[in-house]
Amino acid sequence: KAMEILKEFEEKCGTPIPRLRQVADAMIVEMHAGLASEGGSKLKMLISYVDNLPTGDEKGLFYALDLGGTNFRVIRVQLGGKRKGIVNQQFEEVSIPPSLMTGTSDALFDYIAAALAKFIAQEGPEFKLNPGRQRELGFTFSFPVMQSSIASGTLLKWTKGFSIDDAVHQDVVAELSKALERQGLDMRIAALVNDTVGTLAGGRHHNNNVVAAVILGTGSNAAYVERVHAIPKWHGLLPKSGEMVINMEWGNFRSSHLPLTEYDHELDAESLNPGEQIYEKVISGMYLGEIVRRVLCRMAEEAAFFGDTVPPKLKKPFVLGTPVMSAMHRDTSPDLKMVASNLKDVLEISNTSLKMRKVIVELCNIVATRGARLSAAGVLGILKKMGRDTIKDREKQKTVIAMDGGLYEHYSEYRNCLENTLNELLGEEVAQTITIEHSNDGSGIGAALLAASHSQYLEIYE
Ligand code: BG6
Ligand code: GLC
Repeated sequence: KAMEILKEFEEKCGTPIPRLRQVADAMIVEMHAGLASEGGSKLKMLISYVDNLPTGDEKGLFYALDLGGTNFRVIRVQLGGKRKGIVNQQFEEVSIPPSLMTGTSDALFDYIAAALAKFIAQEGPEFKLNPGRQRELGFTFSFPVMQSSIASGTLLKWTKGFSIDDAVHQDVVAELSKALERQGLDMRIAALVNDTVGTLAGGRHHNNNVVAAVILGTGSNAAYVERVHAIPKWHGLLPKSGEMVINMEWGNFRSSHLPLTEYDHELDAESLNPGEQIYEKVISGMYLGEIVRRVLCRMAEEAAFFGDTVPPKLKKPFVLGTPVMSAMHRDTSPDLKMVASNLKDVLEISNTSLKMRKVIVELCNIVATRGARLSAAGVLGILKKMGRDTIKDREKQKTVIAMDGGLYEHYSEYRNCLENTLNELLGEEVAQTITIEHSNDGSGIGAALLAASHSQYLEIYE
């Protein structure tokens, strides 16, 4: 019976190549709709107000705050100007107490402002600024924000594990500025960016061929460089570059072509944001382990997979995190001892047979494979939209996608499956022109670089 449940689940999770192409094409249709008008699509296709990506000429001392991933980071970057790149960089990682993720806006912003104040209080005299000069900050805020300029924008909704009602529709920069003031910090927020936009900027800084960025972490999203002429909803001036970075918020994509199961529907219904972020809920790190848990629960309840009773721990939502899933999936020992020890430590399940452990590895594989292949389809959608899924100039054409996030970084089976699937979708010849580059923590640096290019001081360029 347990095998039946597994087989049925596997069938429903199928992602054959033609289906992935349908997903990519549906993504493109939604991209067009989202660019055409506000509210035109589930894909918000948010205008970032970044119309110039870093060139490498940026100069000076800048700070960044990076909020929205697993860890919150405070970053200081010293930019050396022309060709010197980043001459000094330091960061501190602080985890956000879970209670703050669902508390009040003031409590959250006070917490991050206090971390920044502490960071600055500890720095050496070499970072002291001249009197009258303000410190400047790039703020990476990894949630959907409707921007009205490079340094202002209102939060549309929370995603992932955050849900703070009184912050919704508020100006994120104003909220942070007030908190900085409460800490006695005299700082100017020069740029507000999504993590995808920060990653794109950070990636471009060291590789000129970076044209898109994808985050595969707790949540998932992508940003890419679009021609302003292809953005009908843009009514502002035509930037000199003729380009604008678009934050797709692809996590909210949905399509009848997505292979969704009853487990996905239940997960969604019981989530903090039912009906929202459907694509994110099948591909990103916050949810993969939870999907595995739900299937195991069903196997325990209906097929007595773990014996007469359902292990109590297994009933607890989100106990089985994606890092645990990935550790079990990776287990190649003959007796699957990593699987056994994780089951024991995390779920308090002991005495599993080798056969049961094999079933669990297979289940992890099904969930990870579906997620990775669907995210490859999303990447194909972006490449197609940019006209980079075919070869126009064999010599020159090089496309680099900057990627970051814990899922991409640490779940190698997922990463390999994503890359193989993308190659398969593109075909060998085109695949050779496309590179995925891991941009480690590039989003904070990207925000600092964008703060530099939007500095109130003139001498940022040599
Ligand atoms: C980090 C970025 O590298 O990746 C964050 O700096 C981003 O801003 C994060 O949110 C996503 O990864 P995770 O796994 O921490 O959600
Ligand atoms: C969620 C957020 C999005 C972010 C992504 C990755 O999808 O809505 O803004 O980029 O997670 O962190």
